[in-house]
Amino acid sequence: MDFLINGKRRLSGSIEVSTAKNALLPILAACLLVEGTICLHKVTYFDDINNMLQILQNLGVKVCKYEQMLILDCQNINNYIIPLNLASKLRASIFCLGPLLGRLKKARVAYPGGCQIGTRPINIHLDGLKKLGINVVDRHGYINAFANNFRANKICLPFPSVGATENLIMASVLQKGKVTLQGVAKEPEIVDLCNFLNSVGAKITGAGSDEIIIEGVSKLSSGEYTPIPDRIITGTYLLLPLICGGKIEVCNAKPEHISPILYMLKNNSCNVRVKSDKIIVSCENRPKNFGKIETLPYPHFPTDLQQPLCAVATIAKGTTIITENLFESRFNHVPELIKMGAKIDVLDGSVVVHGVPDLYGAEVEAPDLRGGAALIMAGLGANGYTTVKNIDVVDRGYFKLEQTLNLIGADITRIN
Ligand code: UD1
Repeated sequence: MDFLINGKRRLSGSIEVSTAKNALLPILAACLLVEGTICLHKVTYFDDINNMLQILQNLGVKVCKYEQMLILDCQNINNYIIPLNLASKLRASIFCLGPLLGRLKKARVAYPGGCQIGTRPINIHLDGLKKLGINVVDRHGYINAFANNFRANKICLPFPSVGATENLIMASVLQKGKVTLQGVAKEPEIVDLCNFLNSVGAKITGAGSDEIIIEGVSKLSSGEYTPIPDRIITGTYLLLPLICGGKIEVCNAKPEHISPILYMLKNNSCNVRVKSDKIIVSCENRPKNFGKIETLPYPHFPTDLQQPLCAVATIAKGTTIITENLFESRFNHVPELIKMGAKIDVLDGSVVVHGVPDLYGAEVEAPDLRGGAALIMAGLGANGYTTVKNIDVVDRGYFKLEQTLNLIGADITRIN
């Protein structure tokens, strides 16, 4: 699928942020630990969420969708295998490894898929599991793991991996004893996962700090939960007026989750107002450059907003240097932006973006989820028509984006 974008239209209006895909995905995996029924509210059915639900169904979960309410009956988990055709559809399939080990004490999970933004190894997940006494055999593209000799332990992660932190928490919740995880990720999605697990009977403390303690419990039971709003979608919307001009009110936001973006916007040539869960941004002139921006784990500038920021930097006054520290191949949007008139030099791990007054429409291809979002933003700010091909990768994390943006003045047509 493609988007045809008629650019240079001023955006104005109010947009509501949906639930966070990256919070919902581990919470869905965590439902495998629950001997009961879970009701989730305000669910947005991104493609990644539907793919995760397919995996859960294949493991024995009964799934009922009532518009934005999702009911999962997890009484009978009767399968411990995630085959390649399901696992390869998304990165988050690997999040099921920990819960399956907690619930069934065994798992056979094919290597995950996800955006092609680097090698994305899972060594921190597997090394952590091994330190918990789990027997892990990694062969022929499958992880086979057995938790019969689980050993509560203190583990220090070599890097605060989001996915590994989530997997290790979920592997520990139903085991005997106290597990201490140090050097963990502090992202709001980790806190949300722990809040969800605690709400159904888990005993986890320290989420949001760099040490998390899990005291094993024998059972998790039914409950309901509303995941947090998506901070990456919030940030994407907030950047739009800088490239298109206009005034956007972003509702259902959590300003405390996007402090580096708000700081950056407040120091640029736009007006920003925060009123509890609403953020209003307006911008009528070309933005200033963003200086030097570096991606780092939370609470620093998020890697998932690096590509959207790069799109804005292409038309900013002056030069912006963006350094990507988390994923080695997260600049595949750059050759596409250059086709639209951007002036960007790629160095080792960084891009130097020399702002130009205007981009022009071109035919470009979305390389990955956030890179695709960056190209859509560039198309919205460019003169003439832009075709963004391979929009399917964007649908994985932005729900019906063209409908949302057309309501505030964009002109985007989805072409099948
Ligand atoms: C999650 C997010 C993704 C975001 C990323 C960083 C989900 C579904 N995805 O991905 O949108 O960009 O956090 O904020 O929540 N690493 C290893 N070995 C491992 C695990 C990770 O070397 O076992 C490296 C990765 O290659 C990468 C870095 O650690 O360089 C960060 O990865 P990680 O935090 O694990 O990201 P994900 O959980 O995959």
